[in-house]
Amino acid sequence: MNGMEADIERVLLNRERIAQRVDAMAGEIAAVYGPSRDGIVIVPVLTGALMFAADLIRRLPMRTQIHMMAASSYEGTTGTEPRLLYGPGDLVGGRHVLIVDDILDSGRTLQRVIADLRQHGAASVRSCVLLRKPGKAVTGVSADFVGFDIEDVFVVGYGLDFNNWYRNWPDIAVLRPELYA
Ligand code: XMP
Repeated sequence: MNGMEADIERVLLNRERIAQRVDAMAGEIAAVYGPSRDGIVIVPVLTGALMFAADLIRRLPMRTQIHMMAASSYEGTTGTEPRLLYGPGDLVGGRHVLIVDDILDSGRTLQRVIADLRQHGAASVRSCVLLRKPGKAVTGVSADFVGFDIEDVFVVGYGLDFNNWYRNWPDIAVLRPELYA
């Protein structure tokens, strides 16, 4: 036992399934963009997309540049609002941009990130999320590439966290409920 195993109630997506799907997603993305001398700009949204982005980017056959973006949530007047801590700014001007995020839940984070990239003059903005919780997007925003639709449970592992723990667990898993209490 390594101290994490005991906290996990069940594995939702194991590492083999994740790797297979990430492989397939890289193919889907490559088919949409095609080969181009200009390549694309990948914008991983930290910290949750860390593992997913690292695996996905290495499977993409086209030219890429990487600019990290960091978002965090805070309690605003209309509920939980995303705040952008840093990003590529004007470096995306005139470029084709692919956002890579861990999970699409309400869609607020993605909406905020897309707006920022458009404001800075990106030629096109597409998005890729590993997980999506169906029917929960309040913003109408949708992702262009989706890894898995999952049930509405809080998940950890493969970059996803609870209080910044469990990001290094290689599977996507559900924690024992008493840990949230
Ligand atoms: P929104 O609602 O903005 O949510 O689409 C996206 C962000 O919310 C966090 N999130 C989760 N994090 N397990 C996590 O570790 C989950 O089940 C979960 N659901 C939402 C995450 O930071 C994501 O980028």
